[in-house]
Amino acid sequence: FKLPNITNEPIKSYAPGSPERKELKSQINQLRSIVADVPMIIDGKEVRTGKLVDIRPPHDHHHLLGHYHQGDASHVQMAIDAALKAKPAWEKMSWESRAAIFLKAADLLAGPYRQRMNAVTMLGQSKNAFQAEIDCVAELADFFRFNVKNMYEIYHMQPNSAPGIWNRTVWRPLEGFVFALTPFNFTSIAGNLPGAPALMGNVCVWKPSKTAVYSAHLIMEILKEAGLPDGVINLVYCSGPTAADVIFSHKDFAGIHFTGSTQVFNDIWATIVKNIDKYRSYPRIVGETGGKDYIFADPTACPKEVATAIVRGAFEYQGQKCSAASRAYIPANIWPEVENYVQKDMASIKVGGVEDFTNFVNAVIDEASFVKLSNAIDAANKSEDAEVIIGGHYDMSAGYFIQPTIIQAFKPDYITMREELFGPILTVYVYDPEKVDETLDILDKSSAYALTGAIFSKNRANIEEMTERLTHTAGNFYINDKPTGAVVDQQPFGGGRASGTNDKAGTIFNLLRWVSPQAIKETF
Ligand code: ALA
Repeated sequence: FKLPNITNEPIKSYAPGSPERKELKSQINQLRSIVADVPMIIDGKEVRTGKLVDIRPPHDHHHLLGHYHQGDASHVQMAIDAALKAKPAWEKMSWESRAAIFLKAADLLAGPYRQRMNAVTMLGQSKNAFQAEIDCVAELADFFRFNVKNMYEIYHMQPNSAPGIWNRTVWRPLEGFVFALTPFNFTSIAGNLPGAPALMGNVCVWKPSKTAVYSAHLIMEILKEAGLPDGVINLVYCSGPTAADVIFSHKDFAGIHFTGSTQVFNDIWATIVKNIDKYRSYPRIVGETGGKDYIFADPTACPKEVATAIVRGAFEYQGQKCSAASRAYIPANIWPEVENYVQKDMASIKVGGVEDFTNFVNAVIDEASFVKLSNAIDAANKSEDAEVIIGGHYDMSAGYFIQPTIIQAFKPDYITMREELFGPILTVYVYDPEKVDETLDILDKSSAYALTGAIFSKNRANIEEMTERLTHTAGNFYINDKPTGAVVDQQPFGGGRASGTNDKAGTIFNLLRWVSPQAIKETF
């Protein structure tokens, strides 16, 4: 097996007149002209229950894109049975063959399926062409490819041997099956959560978010075409509690690979603890959860750079990146200039459907999210402790549109400075430039999360001091840049505190959670 040279998948520009733009538009039109039928895939077979759930673009909810077949507890059980049946052969398959399947899947994704994958993610999850391209094509292909490179390195980590002794480590998969519970906001994360454990020789039950079934199904089709044997990953659609009841009480439950809310992850831990006597092994619990990601500018920061970071960091993909900036601390000496730049930038932001490539902001994922976000805007409008200073408009007549919004908080512990909203709303607190220290303290202590954060400063000593000071506030920490857009193998992604177990997707650390190494000593 020769490990190919692995690099990040280049991003296409979708410039007007480019062939990729033409092809993507044609895929979008094609998908909009059919009503897709999306089955579950269990043991490699399409499973249809006839219990249909509509798939509609969040930005155009009068349009029917298709429907998926809702499963129940019996399908979760079928998925576990299929996974356990597939396990012996998959475990025995050489790791080179497993690697070849995922490398081929990455090539299919970045090649013939590229524009279909983009179109499905754009329409199903209301993600514009540029955001879709970096997510469901480049990042997912990167995950599949870099996981192979990292697996190669893990398998080559071997112990020393004294004369007459042969010590070796066998990187065995976990005993049992892994449950992948995946989010809507990144198709790449959704694909990586079952993909990483499977590459390491595990079998999986995969339950995608109900708002991202369409793209999950296409990933399964690509993996199948790449040669993934039946039953290695089984895709089921059902409610969270239904899946939880069957999975977390099963003796062969070996681990969960999760991205979603902190509350759901907390409930998962509690359920696993309650069932702990039932399992054969201690399950691996790996999760990336919520965030209250920050931008902190010191009094020397460049106002224009801070403004750009606010607009791009908070509003790309409608602020639904787990990494999105949602609170900012800006000193009063630069705030008027920052605000000016932000206002100017935001005046040119177009909000609308993904079909028009000039729209920078599209719809939020569903009605529940729309209600939560519009309530936060209403509350700020009524509060004496805050004011909506930019944006604030919302309308769900055609799609779940929330205009990018900036709330100014007059108290640093105002609710939206602390709690996650997951949408295009950023709250800013303007602080006294004499009180950098106190404000850093507030930043550190006022929110439970620690996913991403960005500091801005033109002073080297300040940068170093703030970096040391904010050690545990962000798993991904940016200096003079927005806190989003981590690239696989460049800025390994994941956070601590209430933001997750920080097992850094796409790295050796993550893959090590999906193996149970056996140390063998053989004496001659
Ligand atoms: N990789 C994504 C980002 O950093 C989560 O924005």
